[in-house]
Amino acid sequence: MGLVPTMGALHEGHLSLIHEAKKQKTYVVVSVFVNPTQFDDPADLESYPRNLERDLEMLERNHVDLVFAPTEKEMYPEPDQRTFNFSPLDKVMEGAFRPGHFNGVAQVVSKLFEIISPDKAFFGQKDFQQLTIIKKLVEIQNYKVRVIGCPIIREKDGLAMSSRNQLLTQKERKEAPYIHKVLIEAKSEAKNYSPPEIKKIVSERITNHPLIDLEYFEIVDDKNLEPIYTWKDTINPVGCIAVKLGQVRLIDNIYFA
Ligand code: PAJ
Repeated sequence: MGLVPTMGALHEGHLSLIHEAKKQKTYVVVSVFVNPTQFDDPADLESYPRNLERDLEMLERNHVDLVFAPTEKEMYPEPDQRTFNFSPLDKVMEGAFRPGHFNGVAQVVSKLFEIISPDKAFFGQKDFQQLTIIKKLVEIQNYKVRVIGCPIIREKDGLAMSSRNQLLTQKERKEAPYIHKVLIEAKSEAKNYSPPEIKKIVSERITNHPLIDLEYFEIVDDKNLEPIYTWKDTINPVGCIAVKLGQVRLIDNIYFA
């Protein structure tokens, strides 16, 4: 059994996980649940796109074997009091900017793993830190689940696909590919600069854009998520960025190796 957890508003990024689960010959289960416990901002939860009818049509067209779309009461008959300790993985980047976010993700994903008991679970590298934390969750909870990380799927113009992209205004959507463009440029310039210098260059380029506000850009080791200071500090450096474009929060990342 292969599980693809989602919050719905499905796009090609989600479908790529389903296709990988199919390719690995699993019985494919897709969960659709907008998990309230992982939202630190009530307005973000409120505005999160929902369209179960459309999602179900897409899932049917893609021959998914089973859909699990529980209600909030079914997932949380009682408030979930559990706290998980992923320190230091959940203290940096998304963890620093969205307090409690990863605890909520761990609450819902652990419930999904326990309800569904999948052999494999498929997650996107788009949410790089989430993928690292899920691997840690499996380790500390001794789940018998193989976590499979899948590559980022992008729009033709480079913007990483995200359910949140549909919340962008036309003008913001036009500017959004700038984020990936800056990451690509940074990667091509990496041989001439140290990680802290690249961090500064990227930060300046994003900050100079009139519509985009930088939350963070970090270059970290892909396993322990610790910031690196020289390229020799890790085999696999990954640059992770979070920005706000108007009201919409977007994340992206790129491997420098
Ligand atoms: P959601 O944002 O719906 O994403 C579901 C899965 O799709 C995640 O593993 C995410 O990394 C992956 N994904 C999203 N956009 C992608 C893209 N452009 N390319 C490749 N994969 C992509 O992530 C969540 O939901 C939730 O936190 C969840 C794990 C379901 C727990 O509630």
